[in-house]
Amino acid sequence: MEDSIYMDASAVIVSSVCHTTTNGPLCEAMLGQHRLRYWRRLAGACVVIEDQRQELIRNFVWPAVSADLIFEDRYLLGTALARPCIVRGIIDVAKRVGAGYISHGATGKGNDQVRFELGCYALCPEIKIIAPWKDPNFYKRFPGRQELFEYAREHGIPLPVTPKCPWSIDANMVHVSYESGILENPATHPPEGIFQMTTDPEKAPDIPQVLTITFNKGLPSSVVIVGDATQVRDPLEIFCVCNSVGAKHGVGRTDIVENRFVGLKSRGIYETPGLTILRAAHLDLEALCLDREVRKIKAYLSTRMSEMVYNGLWYSPEFEFTRHCISQSQKQVTGSVTLKVYKGNVYVLGRSAPVSLYNQELVSMDVQGDYEPGDAHGFIKINAVRLREHERVKQIAKST
Ligand code: ARG
Ligand code: SIN
Repeated sequence: MEDSIYMDASAVIVSSVCHTTTNGPLCEAMLGQHRLRYWRRLAGACVVIEDQRQELIRNFVWPAVSADLIFEDRYLLGTALARPCIVRGIIDVAKRVGAGYISHGATGKGNDQVRFELGCYALCPEIKIIAPWKDPNFYKRFPGRQELFEYAREHGIPLPVTPKCPWSIDANMVHVSYESGILENPATHPPEGIFQMTTDPEKAPDIPQVLTITFNKGLPSSVVIVGDATQVRDPLEIFCVCNSVGAKHGVGRTDIVENRFVGLKSRGIYETPGLTILRAAHLDLEALCLDREVRKIKAYLSTRMSEMVYNGLWYSPEFEFTRHCISQSQKQVTGSVTLKVYKGNVYVLGRSAPVSLYNQELVSMDVQGDYEPGDAHGFIKINAVRLREHERVKQIAKST
């Protein structure tokens, strides 16, 4: 008999440790716990919990850092990056135990359903999906979260959702996101105390923290907290150091309205301390190491790749292609960036790279270097041809 596997991390099966989400458990409260018990009795459904933190950082977050991923200029994709990691883990388990079904607790209105299901179909084409939120029998009985809260209360099913914390939360190592409830009105200010990961920047320490982050071919390779001699090199530890410094100093809070893949606009609040610091450092190093024209093409590819991740297309041909192109751009992105983290902000203090396109002698205002200033006359005159023509035509248009 076929087994079924539950997909939400806090809940039942595989995920990055630290990952919790509230729609999953809610839905699980209704169907999951009951069904799981039932399946376990009937078919021996299994529970597997795996630590996926190294995988999450090495295989999903590091590529995001080297590609400078950001969705609609503001969202660092903390949930969207975790989904293909969870999918990879859960499909491995499904194959191991011979499960034919995977179930998830995402609603039918969001991005997560798309990410989970597309990922599963890509990695295991024959898999079947059970998504209770999209089952008419389910949503006729439970049109929304309130009815689920009620049901859970009546049946004594414990939930991670309380009246003080009623949000749809997705939390993992990278970020915490908050949606739903009063936040659905985009004019409503986030209530005091909503944030779980970061200090309020106004209450952050008065003494800044200075860090040096080193990259090797576009990937973080070490971090040193200035004043503390230890150099951290393990990817997970590097990420944890950036996270704890960022969290302590209130870095990485954003409140946005975003465009879900299904066509809905939604309001979300995020806190992403470590990734905010790493992205700032990486972007800064690229300014030193990337050719101007390559940088422009890379920025375009980065926007496209961010959309692919957001839309659940990690395991797609376009993603593979874009990722490959971006990794080509990173061959020379090796060097260090020193940053000051202070009251919610990240300030770059300086950067250096062993192989850098920055040529101090060439650019210096103090020495001529291998540069002929007189050549600039011709360069500017030729560039002015177009501008003169533009003006000439405007004058003709005015007089006719
Ligand atoms: N809007 C964000 C995204 O699409 C966060 C989704 C949060 N998921 C959740 N189950 N609460 O990536
Ligand atoms: C959900 O729909 O379960 C959460 C929000 C989203 O996936 O966008």
